[in-house]
Amino acid sequence: MQPEQVVTELPVTGWTGPFDPMSTRAAVAALEAGRVVMLPQLAFEVTEAERAVLSAGLLSGKRKNISLEPATGKIGGAADVPEPLAAFMGRFAAQAEILARGLLAPYSRPLRLGRTSFRPAEIAGRDYSPRKDDKRLHVDAFPTRPTHGDRILRLFSNVAPDGRAREWRVGEPFGDLASRYLKTLPAPAATRARLYAMLGLTKGVQSGYDQMMLALHDQMKLDETYQTTAPALPWSFPAGTTWMVFTDQVPHAALAGHFALEQTFYLPVSAMVSPETAPLRVLERLTGRVLA
Ligand SMILES: [Fe+2]
Repeated sequence: MQPEQVVTELPVTGWTGPFDPMSTRAAVAALEAGRVVMLPQLAFEVTEAERAVLSAGLLSGKRKNISLEPATGKIGGAADVPEPLAAFMGRFAAQAEILARGLLAPYSRPLRLGRTSFRPAEIAGRDYSPRKDDKRLHVDAFPTRPTHGDRILRLFSNVAPDGRAREWRVGEPFGDLASRYLKTLPAPAATRARLYAMLGLTKGVQSGYDQMMLALHDQMKLDETYQTTAPALPWSFPAGTTWMVFTDQVPHAALAGHFALEQTFYLPVSAMVSPETAPLRVLERLTGRVLA
């Protein structure tokens, strides 16, 4: 794989625009084609008060993730969150949203804001069960939050105070990935989906698409051969950079780094410029069934 197949760099320098139509077209085309859109000149600025919070021992410890639900302002993942941290994450969420709605103009209205997360802990050397280990190539699928085919778009900023880069691997096109695992992906199981929702295990009823994507996520991570032989390119995101990617489409693994911020967005397939590239449509073509 060549770098231009997995990453498109754009010279965006501000969170609020104005963004020129060429950057918008390039960003949307790259994202929908399954590339990472890298903004090497766009840093999320950290204030002095926030820097003190970043370096606090509390955050560099065991916790992998601190999350903020923008709709409610509720913070999860940390026992007591200092006020500057809540404000820091809120400020990032607001800027990420302005950037996404502005730069990705065709998505501006239909884009929905999901969770914000702060990931202070170093990734390298941490041990997880293979299924939970994001150092392994995977596509994102949320066990408790069915998307029914809506896209998962994520925006990341590396805010490491010591300048440490975030190291990823970026993998093959979704069509290749889906074809590889097609025979072992489960058929839609509607009764189980209703039961899970009734028991409160999922927030809403999973579609066949959600069930397939969860299986795909697990099968990739548990497949040693895939992990070691699948096409993937290493990519470094230096401190002070920002990047976006459809993580439901692009196989990715985060190998090293600390202090990243991440904002999740959801986008209906119908709002895409090329909806046929959506994982939902790819899986529907391959299986010949309606999946959501
Ligand atoms: Fe992921």
